[in-house]
Amino acid sequence: MSDQVRIATVTLNPAIDQTIFIPNFQAGKVNRVSRAQSNAGGKGVNVASFLADFGFDISVTGFLGAENPHLFERLFSQKQIEDCFVRIAGLTRTGIKIINDVTQETTDINFPGETPNAENVRTLFQAIEMLAADCQWFVLAGSIPAGVDPNIYADLIEAITRKGRAVALDTSGESLRRAIGRTPSLIKPNIHELEELTGTPLTTQAEVLQAAQRLLDGGIECVIISMGADGAIFMTAQERILATPPSVPVLSTVGAGDAMVSGMVAGRIRQLPLAECARLATAFSLSAISRVEAGLPDMATLNTFKEQVVITTL
Ligand SMILES: Nc1ncnc2c1ncn2[C@@H]1O[C@H](COP(=O)(O)OP(=O)(O)OP(=O)(O)O)[C@@H](O)[C@H]1O
Ligand SMILES: [Mg+2]
Repeated sequence: MSDQVRIATVTLNPAIDQTIFIPNFQAGKVNRVSRAQSNAGGKGVNVASFLADFGFDISVTGFLGAENPHLFERLFSQKQIEDCFVRIAGLTRTGIKIINDVTQETTDINFPGETPNAENVRTLFQAIEMLAADCQWFVLAGSIPAGVDPNIYADLIEAITRKGRAVALDTSGESLRRAIGRTPSLIKPNIHELEELTGTPLTTQAEVLQAAQRLLDGGIECVIISMGADGAIFMTAQERILATPPSVPVLSTVGAGDAMVSGMVAGRIRQLPLAECARLATAFSLSAISRVEAGLPDMATLNTFKEQVVITTL
């Protein structure tokens, strides 16, 4: 299956996710690794992976360290993803996760990323301009590297929407605040990111709906507020839908949000009604949290998850 539509994802701050299993890990002691695994990561890379598995033609761009691109290049060739990443001097950062499966504790060690220079940023904008010729949708996801202008998402959205292309944005903090005025087509803050954006705690559903409505009033077509195990609210100017997932064993919460963005973009491209988009997006998230491997499971498993999602009109 290959949809005619091509999608580009943009990852400004990718990371290599290195997971190390050390039973009885102790800081300040000699520790022995029982198992380790490294994956190409970063939110836009994860989205590309989900959407490629679903059958879309995908291009990826952003900034990638020239010294260690191999894991990324292998993933892109395995999934037939077109690699348009701008190579920058130095290493893509690594995020080390030490899992002590005896105490169930996780220790995170995050390296800083490299800062792209002004020339790298110009090259990225050129890559985006080129991609806008073929890609109907862009997904901008994740944090921005230290030292990069916090307006970069706002500027990218302007460049992409000027070409008449749609943008889904999944980021947080200052870069989200500065970008929403440029009206991306779709955003998916989680509840904490929405609280940070509005500057107030959102304790009732009415408060959440009101905050999301203000974003719609600003011109964003579709707002999704995700709330972890409580599901997500999907809103357009016409409709408000709550999608509640079944309770499932959680193997990894990494990428639940990325999966939801992927499923939602897939649903919008297929022009599904909002309730069906919500069902598909939630099934993508369930796939992410119930497996350790990146990407989507087989379609039968995905369909089983879809059937288990409860849709409520608000
Ligand atoms: N424990 C869970 N059980 C069932 N579904 C879950 C659970 N956690 C997350 N989900 C599903 O995944 C969706 C997105 O999760 P969440 O709100 O945690 O995203 P996020 O905070 O953006 O995650 P990310 O860390 O990937 O950015 C939820 O709306 C829900 O459908
Ligand atoms: Mg998120």
